[in-house]
Amino acid sequence: MSQFTRTLADEADTLEFGQMLAARILAGLTIYLNGELGAGKTTLARGILRGLGYQGKVKSPTFTLVEVYSLPAFELFHFDFYRFTDPNELAQAGFRDHFTPQSVCLIEWPCKAIGLPVADLNIQLNVQDQGRIAILQAQSELGKSCLPY
Ligand SMILES: Nc1ncnc2c1ncn2[C@@H]1O[C@H](COP(=O)(O)OP(=O)(O)OP(=O)(O)O)[C@@H](O)[C@H]1O
Ligand SMILES: [Mg+2]
Repeated sequence: MSQFTRTLADEADTLEFGQMLAARILAGLTIYLNGELGAGKTTLARGILRGLGYQGKVKSPTFTLVEVYSLPAFELFHFDFYRFTDPNELAQAGFRDHFTPQSVCLIEWPCKAIGLPVADLNIQLNVQDQGRIAILQAQSELGKSCLPY
């Protein structure tokens, strides 16, 4: 397993890191965004989408559960399962159909769902002092291609 750690001093740093990651994102990736409430998961997703050229507003999927972005190279699904009350909701909502080799899935609160594909890239965001620490773990060859070395 390959790992990469990076300090993110402020929100702008998180956005910039997301933009850097975007340049390495390929269709088929499943990325877990882990971390406590307010750790910066949505901010990182926003940076990734900016880096992929998406100019519109990037809303938190807290209430909608999923936001879908049709990008030139692939569809990107941004999930937030925080509000799942039943772990089986993933299958019931039909969300499993979104995980295809042609799509990219960013998932906040993956621990709330049962039956998710394993992550190619697991991103852990931890609060540290005023900033954050991002720990990236690649769990597949596709995931490894996201790491900046
Ligand atoms: N590196 C950073 N340092 C300090 N603050 C940050 C950093 N990155 C993001 N933030 C701030 O953290 C706050 C919460 O961010 P965000 O909404 O992205 O968290 P989240 O992990 O998605 O939370 P939730 O679990 O509620 O969805 C925002 O105010 C954002 O500006
Ligand atoms: Mg969020």
